[in-house]
Amino acid sequence: MSVKKQERRDFIGMAFGAVAAVGGAFALVGMKKSWDPLPSVKAAGFTTVDLSPMQAGEFRQVEWRKKPIFIIKKNADMKPNPARDVVIGEDKYMVAIGLCTHLGCIPSWSPSDMMFKCACHGGEFDASGVNTFGPPPRPLDIPPFKIDGTKLVLGEEGPEYKKLAGIA
Ligand code: FES
Repeated sequence: MSVKKQERRDFIGMAFGAVAAVGGAFALVGMKKSWDPLPSVKAAGFTTVDLSPMQAGEFRQVEWRKKPIFIIKKNADMKPNPARDVVIGEDKYMVAIGLCTHLGCIPSWSPSDMMFKCACHGGEFDASGVNTFGPPPRPLDIPPFKIDGTKLVLGEEGPEYKKLAGIA
């Protein structure tokens, strides 16, 4: 083999080695990320809401992972819905992702009618988040949550969520 060819081969070998080393380093970084997430990153996926100051009939909107979350503390005029209510002690809450299940607009809460109305195509949802009128094909989605005392922790699948989602 000529010297030139040999040099070329060495160069190609080194180039491959370099690419493999860089790829390996990236793979290691990726692996490190998946097995050792930073505490702040972990915490960023959660939103904690203390429900104890809420009054009966009150509506609140919070944000979880950039999505609007609707919370209502039900009053005596709002029909209980055992398949969807989040129960803490004697109190029942509606907790749902505030995105219309038709095409994703944000419906607004109308306290006088005790329903959500979607301005985009006229969809309506009751105080439990169940679709009652218009094009929405299903109730508002329930976000994963867990109950911690009187606090709602969005982003974690607690036993209460699993029960409602039918995966308990
Ligand atoms: S997006 Fe809400 S009714 Fe169409």
